[in-house]
Order: sequence, then C-alpha cells, then structure tokens
Amino acid sequence: MKSRIGEEPKKRAGYRAADLVDDGMVVGLGTGSTVYFSLERLAVRVREGLSIRGVPTSLQTSLRARALHIPLVDLEEVDKLDIAIDGADQVDCNGYLVKGRGGAHTREKVVADAATRLVIVVTPDKLCDCLTVPVPVEVIPFAWASVARSITRLGGTPHIRESGRGKDGPVVTDNGNLILDGDFGRIADPPQLEKELDAIPGVVGTGLFTRFPSRTRVIVGEEGRVRELSY
Ligand code: 5RP
Repeated sequence: MKSRIGEEPKKRAGYRAADLVDDGMVVGLGTGSTVYFSLERLAVRVREGLSIRGVPTSLQTSLRARALHIPLVDLEEVDKLDIAIDGADQVDCNGYLVKGRGGAHTREKVVADAATRLVIVVTPDKLCDCLTVPVPVEVIPFAWASVARSITRLGGTPHIRESGRGKDGPVVTDNGNLILDGDFGRIADPPQLEKELDAIPGVVGTGLFTRFPSRTRVIVGEEGRVRELSY
C-alpha cells in the first residue's frame, strides 16, 4: 500500500514510540517505514547511553539495527520482551490490526506475543472502523494452491504476492515461504477469521492481529502532533 502521507507524521510516531523505551528493556523491533524512525531514534538514545537489547522481526530490521549499532539478541535467549514497537497496515476501532505489507507478519506476531506491551506506530490514514485491506497469509510453498482454495471457501479472493523488487516470481519470506494476500472485503469478525485462517493446514501465520488489544497502544503521527489510542 503506497501512503500519500509525508515522512514527518511517521517520524513523529516512530520517535514517540522509541521514547517509551526504558533502560534495560528487551525491545521487539518491528519492520517497515514507520518503525524505521523508531530505530533511528533508538540509535541516538543508545549512543547517549541507553542500554537495551533488540529482537528484530526481519532480516531488513536486523541489518539496519546492526548498522545503527543497536545491540541485538536472539528471541531464544530471552524469556519475554518488555515492549515491541511495530507498524500496521490498518487498525480498527477495537485495536485489531492487519499487518504484513512487508511480509514480516509471522515473526512480528511471534515477537508481539512475547512482549508485555505492543506499541503500534501509524499515520491517520491507517485508522478505520472496519478492517478492509487484504490479509497477508504466509504459506509453505507446497501448500499454496490448497490454501488458496481454502481462502476462497472462506469468502476471500487470494492473490499470490509477486511484487518483490529485484526478483522475478513470487515473494519469498525470511522463513522461505510464500504469501497469499486474501481479500475479504469488509471483515465483519476479525478474531473468527484469524482463527479460521490459522486452522488451514499449510498456513504459517496471518497478518490479522486480534489477540493483543488489551496490551496495545497505537501511536498516531499527525502533522504537528501525536495521538495515542488504547483499547
Ligand atoms: C511489515 C509490516 C509493517 O509493519 C506494516 O506493513 C506497516 O509498514 P509501514 O510503516 O511501512 O506502513 O507489517 O510486515
């Protein structure tokens, strides 16, 4: 999804989220162009003496965090995370999310699940009453056609994602899998759809995030200010 929003609101949201991080925390580092600014701000704070360990949700975030000298740790080395900072493609009024435009949603959900607090950084165009954007579904390559049929049976229209830059053919995730974007139109019952998609054999993870609203804070970067939403 191409956003018409400028960089300043993203930067405002990203920076505010990074300023919620305290000394000694283990921090989930999400993926995307808004979290980009959280990493930028965290790097400054680390240079100033903040001691944190980051758990990256993608190869892209891992490479950038390393370049910025943000200390990283493997997920298996920590019991829990204090906070995870991530972006979203859509946020509804219940705090349910669609994520995964960057294809990192499976790792992002694992990290969100391990985190005590989930901070989502967005611009106002991502807020909605009802989720409507296609739901990314990561599938093992062997199962892509049968999962596509199951998505159709659930009322969705599946498209295999093929928009990777610098590579012909389908997008391959950091986990070596494919992505089907399932267009369900207006999603009347996101928790139910998440359960049904998760139950399809061959599905590794979906971009529907409906299990975390009570520990989610959404930071909305706007022109000249930042708004915070909780659920
Ligand atoms: C990647 C994601 C991103 O967090 C989501 O797509 C938002 O990205 P951006 O901040 O660039 O709009 O879920 O898998």
